[in-house]
Amino acid sequence: MKIDGVAYRSVWVDRADGWAVHIIDQTKLPWALDILRLTDVAQAAHAIRAMQARGAPLIGALAAYGMCLALRRDASTEAMERGAALLAGTRPTAVNLRWALERMLTRLRNTRPDERVAAAYAEAAAIAEEDVARNEAIGRHGLPLIEAAATRKAGGRVNVLTHCNAGWLATVDWGTALAPIYTAHNAGLDLHVWVDETRPRNQGAALTAWELGKHGVPHTVVADNAGGHLMQHGEVDLAIVGADRVTRAGDVANKIGTYLKALAALDNGVPFWAAVPSSTIDWTLSDGLAEIPIEERSGAEVTDVTGRMADGRIATVRVAPLDSPAANPAFDVTPARLVTGLITERGRCDASVAGLRGLFPEHR
Ligand code: MRU
Repeated sequence: MKIDGVAYRSVWVDRADGWAVHIIDQTKLPWALDILRLTDVAQAAHAIRAMQARGAPLIGALAAYGMCLALRRDASTEAMERGAALLAGTRPTAVNLRWALERMLTRLRNTRPDERVAAAYAEAAAIAEEDVARNEAIGRHGLPLIEAAATRKAGGRVNVLTHCNAGWLATVDWGTALAPIYTAHNAGLDLHVWVDETRPRNQGAALTAWELGKHGVPHTVVADNAGGHLMQHGEVDLAIVGADRVTRAGDVANKIGTYLKALAALDNGVPFWAAVPSSTIDWTLSDGLAEIPIEERSGAEVTDVTGRMADGRIATVRVAPLDSPAANPAFDVTPARLVTGLITERGRCDASVAGLRGLFPEHR
């Protein structure tokens, strides 16, 4: 997608040297567009752990490039397995990380060490390109939902609510939840997005609002707690969220607070859709609540808030009493029964074993 008219992706290989990996430092947005140049696997692992690059599909793609950087230094089998283990330990919830690393290792374990670097870059590039294609397809399959809402409103403005950032910054390009929104906007539909701020790290206020604004999509940032009220008053036509891991039964793990939005949506008859590329489906799990690991992050993300002061300086301030401890579960699981359906690259389906099997019969 574009930033001030210039096309960007969230991760790319240096065009001049052909090997260093670039990302946008998402911890600096929306205040600064800082591009980081990563040259070894430790830097790639740090970028994922520190959330300089975040969002399930992007984590997977960057981990794949992290393997390339590891192999450039040392293409031995031991170094390859060490690099994969380092990257795998960075964040626990998004299954795209494991998916991408398993795919890289399957390719590389069967490749001679002297051919591994070239093979790794080719495989990582394929993972990145496929991500873009999947998300673009999610946009196409999600578009009819927004068109149907527009028809119900006789052409009136469609209001879509989203949580966290599942836009192009969270993927290689397009985004998942935002792909149908960009597709509809590009097609000329009149739509507006309610952007949940997404405490504690404010991915909605900082990232979703920024990328929607850069693309010219009308939007409004709301406090996380506002969604239920907006739904009660008919201000939300549909909700679309992303996912970090979806079980084969359709349970959806996504940023903390997603579950509460799904509950409010059910109570108010608002369709609640999850946009899910197949790289986010964990076919080994069936009970999301019991089986999906939930990342527990630092309590400082809850007690402190970072923002831009009037004089332009970036500052972090404490909003909780100095001696109050804080808990910070970073994701929650929305049971499939609360999800209207899934939007995948192969089409839409029920959030259920049968629904997913219908679209992905190879996982029967
Ligand atoms: O902690 P984050 O910012 O990595 O969490 C991101 C989300 O929860 C997204 O909604 C999810 O990864 C889908 S991204 C297309």
